[in-house]
Amino acid sequence: MTSDGGIKIPSRLPLLLSHEGVLLPGSTVRFSVDSPRNMQLVSQRLLRGTSLKSTIIGVIPNTRDPEHDTDDLPTLHKIGTAGIAVQVVGSNWPKPHYSLLITGLCRFRVSSLLKERPFVLAEVEQLDKLDQYTTPATEGAAAEDEELGELSKKFYQAAVQLLGMLDMSVPVVAKFRRLLDSLPRETLPDVVASMIRTSNKEKLQVLDAVSLEERFKKALPMLTKQIEGLKLLQKTRKMNPDNEKRVLSVRKGGVFPGRQFNLDGEDEEEDGDDAVALEKKVHGANMPDAALRVCLKELKRLKKMPQSMPEYALTRNYLDLMVELPWSKSTKDCLDIRAARTLLDNDHYAMDKLKRRVLEYLAVRQLKTSLKGPILCFVGPPGVGKTSVGRSIARTLGREFHRIALGGVCDQSDIRGHRRTYVGSMPGRIINGLKTVGVNNPVFLLDEVDKLGKSLQGDPAAALLEVLDPEQNHSFTDHYLNVAFDLSQVLFIATANTTATIPPALLDRMEVLQVPGYTQEERVEIAHRHLIPNQLEQHGLTPQQLHIPQETTQDIISRYTREAGVRSLERKIGAICRAVAVKVAEGHRVTKTEDLIPESPTQQGGKTLKNLQKEMQSMLASMLCFYVIILSWFKMNNWQCKYQLPTCNGLQHQCTH
Ligand SMILES: Nc1ncnc2c1ncn2[C@@H]1O[C@H](COP(=O)(O)OP(=O)(O)O)[C@@H](O)[C@H]1O
Ligand SMILES: [Mg+2]
Repeated sequence: MTSDGGIKIPSRLPLLLSHEGVLLPGSTVRFSVDSPRNMQLVSQRLLRGTSLKSTIIGVIPNTRDPEHDTDDLPTLHKIGTAGIAVQVVGSNWPKPHYSLLITGLCRFRVSSLLKERPFVLAEVEQLDKLDQYTTPATEGAAAEDEELGELSKKFYQAAVQLLGMLDMSVPVVAKFRRLLDSLPRETLPDVVASMIRTSNKEKLQVLDAVSLEERFKKALPMLTKQIEGLKLLQKTRKMNPDNEKRVLSVRKGGVFPGRQFNLDGEDEEEDGDDAVALEKKVHGANMPDAALRVCLKELKRLKKMPQSMPEYALTRNYLDLMVELPWSKSTKDCLDIRAARTLLDNDHYAMDKLKRRVLEYLAVRQLKTSLKGPILCFVGPPGVGKTSVGRSIARTLGREFHRIALGGVCDQSDIRGHRRTYVGSMPGRIINGLKTVGVNNPVFLLDEVDKLGKSLQGDPAAALLEVLDPEQNHSFTDHYLNVAFDLSQVLFIATANTTATIPPALLDRMEVLQVPGYTQEERVEIAHRHLIPNQLEQHGLTPQQLHIPQETTQDIISRYTREAGVRSLERKIGAICRAVAVKVAEGHRVTKTEDLIPESPTQQGGKTLKNLQKEMQSMLASMLCFYVIILSWFKMNNWQCKYQLPTCNGLQHQCTH
């Protein structure tokens, strides 16, 4: 096939008669084939052949293959393009047909027809040189004659100008740019004419232009027309600056400017605005570089996705979360130790050891703001105020408070989130909590760490290890986010009922503060300082409507509650408040509590015993009376007794008989 003139195509070529598209050398076009001769060409030549030569066919444009095999051939267009069939796809629906993908190689002229059936075979004359080009576009034309050199230069510049007006991020534009720099200039008219928006008639003119000079002359006006059209389009769009961006961004698959007129859908408009707003938010979220890079990448993907795609919503949610997270938003600590002491004292009675340690912690924090703090863990029986002390520490510091209940959590993704590849994936509780509070230095109360479970889904305690280690938690990576979030500003406080069930590694990261149960006196104080006022307020009562004396509280504690904390005491006080509320609502004035306190079991027992005694006494008294009456009656009727006795004897007598 090779001779001094470069690569030669076979001199006999089977011809594909096409009516719909024009194949130019250097471009690839898909042809649909369903007429008899063309079908035969595919099945007998392309599908049977095994050599590369057998895949080369000639495409004759502007000539329709007759519907029936027997019909005479119409006159063929004289010039065609030899091409390689790079893909053949067959289908039986809706009728048998093939789809051919053909890449054009060079022009040829039909010299004579050799046969018409089963497919057209012709003797052809190659018109273009098929060299293995090595010279790039910029130097290629040096040896050419003057006028052609001038023309090709003009053409190249026009092509560059067109490129300058298009968005390089669109794949087809980028491809165009690459081709422009790497192809020899003599191939440019064919390649450019096939890429820009031209009609079949115009393409046919380029195909028919056998001499290179003529070809440049034919293709150049098409290119300039395209540039003018684009300029006009940009001018009209400039009136509405929002749209300008879209003018330049051709959607993928869109071939150059003509398509851009079709981008006026409502959805597209909203979509674009949405993406722009989101992009603004991403830049405004003040996130670290790594996170910003991920966000911009996702945003780029989002822009290319149609809204109907399921992944669109996932990516959108992800970006929304990233934007909402408080990457650099924080509250300012108000650290006044004296004020903190009074606040803590006001909120909670007793708990001296715990309060002292908390104050120490706050004092150190005041001296050194970037304290990588120990994680405090309050351990004690239920109801001793562990949770509520955590809340009051947050208030003392002027920080946001968030409680994470860990009781019964047995899935590690609860802490660290799911990977985004899972359906229904979510971020973990830590990241969720940060999103809720909206600042990066809240007080997180990890409630009931001792009740963490373990399951097949992993060990949540292990996931907490990273969260609670001050040395590591500045780069905590949630599976859902997949970028590090700095937790070092978060103040973690944990609570537990016992240290026995806390995994040793976790316990090791925490400073345990025992919160013992309260004494009787402390409980009385707590009741009067905190619980009773609280309950009164909750039930809408005033202190005038209900006064509970100290002794009564003591009685309630000693007789009705048996606990380390004060929860059930609080409930009992609540019960009293409810009873009073009923009386108040009925219109009674109640100030004495004794009437309202339900009787204790021992009192009930005492009462029944007394009653029994009284009843027995009265019974005994009445029995005594009865006895005396009977006796006196017997005395009065002594004879009757005597009389009765003989009757008995008489009976005995009768019996003996
Ligand atoms: N020392 C205290 N001073 C005031 N109220 C307290 C004190 N200890 C407990 N309480 C109250 O007891 C109730 C239960 O406390 P909570 O913190 O929920 O207990 P737990 O230790 O089980 O987390 C809360 O209403 C809290 O205000
Ligand atoms: Mg609690």
